[in-house]
Parts: sequence; C-alpha cells; structure tokens
Amino acid sequence: TRPLRQALAKEPVLGRPLARALADLGRHWRSEAAKRMPEARGDIREIVGQPVFVPLYKLFLMYGKIFRLSFGPKSFVIISDPSYAKQILLTNADKYSKGLLSEILDFVMGTGLIPADGEIWKARRRAVVPALHRKYVASMVGMFGDCTLHGTSTLDRAVSSGASIDMENYFSRLALDIIGKAVFNYDFDSLTHDDPVIQAVYTVLREAEHRSTAPLAYWNIPGVALVVPRQRRCQEALRIVNDCLDGLIDKCKKLVEEEDAEFNEEFLSDRDPSILHFLLASGDEISSKQLRDDLMTMLIAGHETTAAVLTWTLHVLSQHPEATEAIRREVDEVLGDRCPTVEDFRSLRFTTRVINEAMRLYPQPPVLIRRALQDDTFDQYLVPAGSDLFISVWNLHRSPKLWDEPDKFKPERFGPLDGPVPNEVTENFAYLPFGGGRRKCIGDQFALFEALVALAMLLRRYDFVVDATKPPVGMTTGATIHTTGGLYMHIKRRDMSGTAAAASRRQEVAAAPAYAFAFG
Ligand code: HEM
Repeated sequence: TRPLRQALAKEPVLGRPLARALADLGRHWRSEAAKRMPEARGDIREIVGQPVFVPLYKLFLMYGKIFRLSFGPKSFVIISDPSYAKQILLTNADKYSKGLLSEILDFVMGTGLIPADGEIWKARRRAVVPALHRKYVASMVGMFGDCTLHGTSTLDRAVSSGASIDMENYFSRLALDIIGKAVFNYDFDSLTHDDPVIQAVYTVLREAEHRSTAPLAYWNIPGVALVVPRQRRCQEALRIVNDCLDGLIDKCKKLVEEEDAEFNEEFLSDRDPSILHFLLASGDEISSKQLRDDLMTMLIAGHETTAAVLTWTLHVLSQHPEATEAIRREVDEVLGDRCPTVEDFRSLRFTTRVINEAMRLYPQPPVLIRRALQDDTFDQYLVPAGSDLFISVWNLHRSPKLWDEPDKFKPERFGPLDGPVPNEVTENFAYLPFGGGRRKCIGDQFALFEALVALAMLLRRYDFVVDATKPPVGMTTGATIHTTGGLYMHIKRRDMSGTAAAASRRQEVAAAPAYAFAFG
C-alpha cells in the first residue's frame, strides 16, 4: 500500500485525506490483530485419554503465556504466566469465581470452602481457618508420627513376603487415616482394613474425578442417578458417608455439651482435638448440611493432595538415590528413631526442599480453575465476563523461561538451605504448590508437616526398590496427578550398620562398663 499512499498523497484534493484514512485503517487492523488472543483449536479426542495438562504444555510452548483453546462451542483461556496468575488469584481476585469447579463438585462438597463463592465462602473461611491454629498443627504432628508408625506393620509384612506393594495406594490410605482423625476424629484405619465407609469414601472420590474429566455432564440429566449403575453406586456411597458424618457431628455435639470447656482462640481438646470439635465449640451457628459440606471438603482436599505429593516424591527419589541418602543423613542426625515434633522442622531443611521440588515437578492439582465474573485484561488481551480460565500450574512450574532445566529434579534450585521455604510469595507466583491470594490452601503447613513426617520416618527405616517387572510409571489426571498403574516397590529393611546413629550407639556400648552387660 505504500506506493498507493505516496501516489495519493501527491493528489492534493482527494489524495491526502484518503492516504491518511488508509494509514489509520492499517493501524487499526494491526492493533486489532495484536489484541486478538492466540487461538488453539482442538479436537476433544486429543485430550481425552491423556492427562489434560500434557497437551496444554505443548500448546503453551506453541502459543505462549495466554491463549484460547476451543472445542466446538466450548472455549477456555489457558494462563501460563506468573504475573497473570497473580492478577487472577490476588490483585483482581474479586473478579473471579470457581465456575466449573463448583458445578462439578456440587454433588459432594455443596457449599464447602473449595467450591463456595461470595458471601458463603467469606463466612466459611472466617470460621474454618482459625481451627488450624498453631497449637492444633503442633498436636497433629504427633498424630502424623503415630499413624506412620502404625502403617509400618503393613510395610513389615511386605518385607517378609518379598512381594512388591503399590505405594500410591499405601500413601492414599495413610493420608485418609490422618485426615479422618484431623478433621472429625474418626479412625478409618484404612491402612490395616477395609470397610463400607472406606469403600464409600473412595467411590465418592473417584466420582469427583470422573466428573472433572468427563466431556459431558450426563449426570445432570433427570433420572440418570436412578438408571446408570455408576451414578446409583455414587448416591449410595454419598448416603453412607453422610450418615457417618451425621453420626460424628452428633457425637461431637454431645461432647461439647458435656465438657463445658471455655472456648478461646487456641481451643484444643485432649479427648478430641479435631477441626469439627473446634467449630462446634466455637458456637459457629451453621446448618448440619453446611457443616457436612465443610467436613467433606477438607476430607477430600487434604487426602488426595498429600497422598499424591508423597507418591511423586517417592517416585522422584527412586530415580535420585543421592537425594535419598542426603535425606537419611539429615534424619539420622536430627531424629534418629523418634517421631518428629514441630521444632524439628527447622532442622529437616533438605528433606523439606526435596518435597518443595517434587511439588514443583508434580503440582497437585496441576491446573486451577476460575470463571471471570467481569471483563478483565491481560496486557492487550481482553478476557470477557463469563470466560472459563485454567491457570496451568504445571506450565508455570515447568516453564523454560522461569526455571533452569525445568524438567530436572534439582532441590538446590531454591537457594541456600537456611533461606526461606519457597512459596508463591518468594517465587513471585512462578511457584504455586498451594495456590495463592485469598483462596490459598488453608492446610499448607499441616500438609507439608504431614509429608515431612511420613517421608522422614519411612526413609529412615526402609529401602524402597522399584519393581522392575511392572510397566514404567505413567501419569493420569483426576483432581490430582495419579500414576497409570500404581507405584510398585519392593520394601526392604534399611541396613543401619553404617549410620551415624548406629556408630554412636556402638561407641556407647564400647565405652560402657563391663558390668552393664551382666544384665543385658
Ligand atoms: C485450597 C493444594 C492439603 C484444605 C488449595 C489450593 C491448592 C491446594 C493448590 C488452591 C485451589 C485454588 O485456588 O483453586 C494442596 C496441596 C496439599 C493440600 C498440594 C497437600 C500437599 C490440604 C489440607 C487441607 C486443605 C491438608 C485441610 C486440612 C484446602 C481448602 C482449600 C484448599 C479448604 C480451599 C481454600 C479456599 O478456597 O478458601 N489446596 N492442599 N488442603 N485446600 Fe489444600
């Protein structure tokens, strides 16, 4: 167009305005094109059958930090940039709701904290967060140790039999036992037995995952719950879990009436230190349905996530024996054979870094879901109200622009061990293991301590050797990242003869007076 514009510009009457108009039009086209968000078109079959964050990563490398992904009439905005994530989660959090997530989880969490929005969310967050106070978390750390020791009977049986066991399943049961006690003082004891309540919890969890990955929300069709066997089983499982929760709520209400204890902000009962007890003792006036929604939400949020973190940490460690040995040196020195207390965490710095790095490589959940309630802009791009957004934490955590060798396990990447524990603030929203902003996880400390206790105590006692006869460990998604076929490991008792603790014990024995042996 330049020669045309030059020619027209020479024409004094008509040419100059026309040339200016053409130039304006060109500028307009260019700026409109720049405002148009990159658009990836997909065939739904490309995503079904593989974990959704894997194709999203490939598309991120092609289309960049923000793009629209459309499947027929459905479209999603995919976010893979720390400053955009910060805008959604923190600065403009008011403009977003949980959207699709609330719709998917409604059947099981109702208006619990994860799916809730608006005033209900505000009120429930204000009521629940104080229950996880410092004294509560400290008392839970003791329980984590007890549960981990209790689970060793299962591992000892595996040592004797020589058969490999699925550590993903093991961690899932350990985390269920822990969260049951922590949230409503219920002993699932799923590590050593199975019962209808445990089965029902798993049926409900699998249904939540099924619904979050199914392409069609067929369960909303009237009558489906009565006809489709899977949905009938789900209704029955919900009834069992709800009955169990109602029973626990009633029992706890009676306890609160009987004990007549004074409530304060660090309220903790020796008989029942659960979150449910705190909520009831606080005089929180809520319906049984809301209370059940809150308990179910914490049961699910605190169970699958921690189990997945432990599973993938052990998987990563199975490929990095040098890191396993470094953890053991730390644990031998700090703990020996005793269970950890809260004070020990400051000393278990390397073990913490290993978990931090495993959570970078395998974030749980790998994608955060939001819906825009109002228009919002990201640089030149407009995201209109009503848009569904996925913040791909997987993409953030593996972005080559943000991390050196992003696919490599490098716990040292977060800096010196005496520095701060990495989180969304220290890493400026490039690292979101527990989300960020006002909807950040309320159980972050609890969960990190839980993973630390289990990992430290188990690595101190056992060798975990990959079962090479099983297929390689692959990934599949539900709400968290699961393995495709389990994490099968042979369990051996660790050879302690070379450890510092064993050496110091040998020295004590050698230095002991001879008469000590007369009674030994
Ligand atoms: C929220 C991760 C353990 C309760 C979240 C979010 C993440 C997360 C990423 C933010 C979700 C979003 O913004 O959409 C994890 C991980 C855990 C863990 C990786 C384990 C390693 C727990 C535990 C509890 C818990 C143990 C309960 C005791 C919650 C709740 C929310 C939440 C209630 C919703 C908070 C709100 O929306 O106000 N979690 N979580 N989580 N988590 Fe956790």
